[in-house]
Amino acid sequence: MKGIILAGGSGSRLYPVTKVYSKQLTLIYDKPLIYYPLSMLMLGGIKDILIISNKETIPLYKQLFDSGSQLGLNIEYAIQAAPNGIAEAFIIGEKFISSDCVTLVLGDNIFYGNLEFFYKALKKNVNATIFGYQVNDPERYGVIEFDGDGNALSIEEKPAKPKSNYAVPGIYIYDNEVVSISKNLKPSARGELEITDVNREYLKGGKLKVEKIGRGVAWLDTGTPEALLQAANFFGVIEQRQGLKVGCVEEIAFRMSFISRDKFGKLINLIPKSSYRNYLERILNDN
Ligand code: G1P
Repeated sequence: MKGIILAGGSGSRLYPVTKVYSKQLTLIYDKPLIYYPLSMLMLGGIKDILIISNKETIPLYKQLFDSGSQLGLNIEYAIQAAPNGIAEAFIIGEKFISSDCVTLVLGDNIFYGNLEFFYKALKKNVNATIFGYQVNDPERYGVIEFDGDGNALSIEEKPAKPKSNYAVPGIYIYDNEVVSISKNLKPSARGELEITDVNREYLKGGKLKVEKIGRGVAWLDTGTPEALLQAANFFGVIEQRQGLKVGCVEEIAFRMSFISRDKFGKLINLIPKSSYRNYLERILNDN
C-alpha cells in the first residue's frame, strides 16, 4: 500500500500566509499541519509516501522530511503545477503508485480518536473505501446519500441541498484502477478533477464501500483562520491534559518500530533544545 499526501491547493482563505507557502505548513499548536495527516498514514503502517504540493513549497517539505529515512519512511515529492483538483494526485503519482493500492490523505485533514475505522478499512479494502462523517454543514463537502441498509446511493460535491449530513472526509483508499479512472475524468464546473467523480465511478461499478465514522472520532477542518485556531486549541488542550503529543511523527516512527531505539535516540540528538525535544527524550526514557 502506497500513501499520498496532497498538500497543495490555493489556500486563498488563509491569505496572506499562503502567498508564501502552502497552508499545510502552518502551525497547529506545536507542529506543522502536515504532521497530522502524515501520522495517520504512518499509524496505518504505510511507509512509502508521496507528498504533492506546489513548486514553491516542495523545497520546504524536503527540508522538513528529507528522504524520510530518519523516520523509517521512504518519502518522495512531486509538484502539482496548479490547483487542478484532488484526483490529479493519481495522475501525478502514477509512477510512484506503480501497480500498488493507494491511500490518499488530504494534507489539511486531521483525524483524532480511535482510528480503528481506518485500520479495518485498510485490511478489508477490495476496490475502494471512503468514509462518511456526520457534520453540521454538509454543503461544504462531498455528501453521501445512504439507503436504509447503510448502502451508498449517491455522492454529490458541495450540493446546495445536501441529501444527508454525511460528508466525505479527505481520506480515501483505492485499488490500482484509480489511476485509469482519474485519467479519464473531465474537469468539473470549477475546473478541477474531482475526487467525488472518482468515487462516483467506483459507485457506478458497485465497487465503492462507504464506512460511517462514529461520533467518537474528531475530524477537524483547517480551511479558515477560525478553524485553524480551533484545531490548535483542541490539540493544545489534549496534549497539555495528557502530557502526550498528537501527530508526533518521530514518536510514531519509534512506537510503530519503523526505527530502532538507537536510531530514535540519534534522531532526538539532532533536534534543538526545545519542549518538543524534551518530550521525545521522555518517550525514549519511558520505553
Ligand atoms: C475536498 C473534496 C470534498 C471533501 C473535502 C474534505 O473539498 O472535494 O469532496 O469532502 O475535500 O476535506 P475541497 O477541499 O476541494 O473544498
